[in-house]
Amino acid sequence: MARKFFVGGNFKMNGTKESIKAIIKNLNQAQLDPNVEVVIAPSHLYLPIAVDAVTASTVSVSAQNVYAKPNGAHTGEVSVSQLKDLGLNWTITGHSERRAGGESDENVADKTKAAIDGGLSVIWCCGESLEEREAGNTVAVVEKQLAALAAKLSGDDWKKIVIAYEPIWAIGTGKVATTEQAQEVHAAIRKWLKAKVSDAVADETRILYGGSVTAKNSKDLAKQPDIDGFLVGGASLKPEFVDIINSNQ
Ligand code: G3H
Repeated sequence: MARKFFVGGNFKMNGTKESIKAIIKNLNQAQLDPNVEVVIAPSHLYLPIAVDAVTASTVSVSAQNVYAKPNGAHTGEVSVSQLKDLGLNWTITGHSERRAGGESDENVADKTKAAIDGGLSVIWCCGESLEEREAGNTVAVVEKQLAALAAKLSGDDWKKIVIAYEPIWAIGTGKVATTEQAQEVHAAIRKWLKAKVSDAVADETRILYGGSVTAKNSKDLAKQPDIDGFLVGGASLKPEFVDIINSNQ
């Protein structure tokens, strides 16, 4: 089955009311490839503004994080039902910047499952550190992260998952993985899904690359057979995000 190309823009802890409206205005006015699913993720604070501002039919809004438990006494957290109440259908989980702050593979899997059960789709992130890569453990690290996720998901849950492979050493560093390095890990993820989940999940799950994606490197990365799109950080705040979205043409 052909996998629809997917480009996520993770704004991280950046932006103001005005700059986020300007980014979205640019997307609304651009000629976006109609065959690409685009999801932008501003900070929680700006989600309502973003939901109101988006008019482009192929663009949706995502949270960057969500809490695993239902509404209640959890100061500073945001629940799945609150995101749904805003009209959102997506959240990111397990970004390495949150894992570095203490989220374990199991915490990430729990919040991913809670998000799916509450009706959200999830951009689930994984990836290795430079030390892990240099020790030759890249695939083992990613497989461990995947195994923790798979332990919590059942059958149809996988239809709500997009995997973002983001080598930590390539995030925000300008040091993009080579197309070969990225393709190799994407193929390993797909192989793992085939062996441990099912042929259908391996065939249908989109696997994004993230880490210093720009308009300059996105076209080559997009040509790789197992790269189904991108999760873009810094460049999603710039006009070149449109070129990245259109890089699969
Ligand atoms: O979520 C996005 C990734 O962390 C990539 O960020 O494009 O700024 O390297 P970056």
